[in-house]
Amino acid sequence: MTLEEPHLDNSIAVAPEPLVQRHAQPGMSLLAVLHAIQDELGYVPPDTVAPLARAMNLSRAEVHGVITYYHHFRTQPAAPVTVQLCRAEACRSMGTEALAQHIEAHTGCRFDAEHRHGATVELESVYCLGQCALSPALMLNGTLHAKVTPQKFDALFAAANKCVEVTA
Ligand code: FES
Repeated sequence: MTLEEPHLDNSIAVAPEPLVQRHAQPGMSLLAVLHAIQDELGYVPPDTVAPLARAMNLSRAEVHGVITYYHHFRTQPAAPVTVQLCRAEACRSMGTEALAQHIEAHTGCRFDAEHRHGATVELESVYCLGQCALSPALMLNGTLHAKVTPQKFDALFAAANKCVEVTA
């Protein structure tokens, strides 16, 4: 198995020390390093906390506090199909709550539920995707979609599931 191939639980075999050394360059903030790690792996592995603390001259509690404070940072891989639905004001006024109910019924998952290793679908609430004039908006596996209707969601979700089946 190469480093690029995911394990069955979607986690990635990675040595934390080299990962941190690669990203923690002099002058970088902890946030910038965390973003770089998550951009590479899709999440920030918990075993990077200690090497990050050493590299950034911080305590492990400080590093852990930053990772857990910002909702953006994940400590485990995302599910193969991840939906981030905007539930802020503009989208709410255009029916995002009804869309959320449809998405939960269609996927059999709940928004913001505890994400388990091995789950195939993850639903997450977010608050503004910068598409307020084109609401309701959502991100599906990192791709932005606007003016999403239940029918449009079903088509997008089916296509995303097909991609997961093909690459599995
Ligand atoms: S409020 Fe939903 S994209 Fe801005």
